[in-house]
Amino acid sequence: MAITLTTLKAMRERSEKIAVLTCYDASFARVLDTAEVDVLLIGDSLGMVIQGHRSTLPVKLAEMTYHTRCVATGTERAFIVADLPFGSYQPSHERAYVSAARLMAAGAHMVKLEGGAVMADTIAFTQRGIPVCAHIGLLPQSVNQLGGYKVQGREEAAAAQLVADAQALEAAGSTLIVLEMVPATVAEAVTNALTIPTIGIGAGVDCSGQVLVLYDMLGIYPRAPKFSKNFLAGTDSIEAAARAYVTAVKNRSFPTADHAF
Ligand code: KIV
Repeated sequence: MAITLTTLKAMRERSEKIAVLTCYDASFARVLDTAEVDVLLIGDSLGMVIQGHRSTLPVKLAEMTYHTRCVATGTERAFIVADLPFGSYQPSHERAYVSAARLMAAGAHMVKLEGGAVMADTIAFTQRGIPVCAHIGLLPQSVNQLGGYKVQGREEAAAAQLVADAQALEAAGSTLIVLEMVPATVAEAVTNALTIPTIGIGAGVDCSGQVLVLYDMLGIYPRAPKFSKNFLAGTDSIEAAARAYVTAVKNRSFPTADHAF
């Protein structure tokens, strides 16, 4: 049966972990769908793993729309989330709505945007039929402001700010939250402060689910981060690797302390 937002909320409520992978084309979408990955994220990480850039900043809305259409074509079961790329949802809510509508028309079931409480007003466009996943912690689109790809929320005040941001985003209508590169204890505190599911990446085992960049978990991206794991090693197919990932997320054997901060 196709996965919906209601399914994801129910999974959180019964403590079933949500397995998410990034995906950028129809062929991989078919394989990941068969392996029962719950959510496929058309991440703007495609700027790095497919286009070869050093950051996600050069990715264009037209490119995200194209890849979203490809993934949607190959998917029957998984819930599809598409990233709003850098510059496509600022400075006006109208701009955000128009960009999000293009991704939805291409086949996304939800869009994702980066930022804390400052994005709450923009998320008000959920009232017009577009579900929004917020992304807090390390914000790759803000890498120049953050001074690099660093763990966020280590200090007490920064950790409290992440909890406050997450609560403001849920109150504004966000129905899913990605937590990237934050200490495991902070991700747990954020998760406990919310009723919506949290999806961690480098955020410990206590989120409602996990996401990895597909090319990192297949071991084909040369700069895979410490919080990732090569699931292709020891298996004989991409589908088997994806199934191993889903199993490891569901039975909480991934991530281990070695993949967390
Ligand atoms: O773009 C992406 O792949 C992402 C994940 C790292 C969560 O946002």
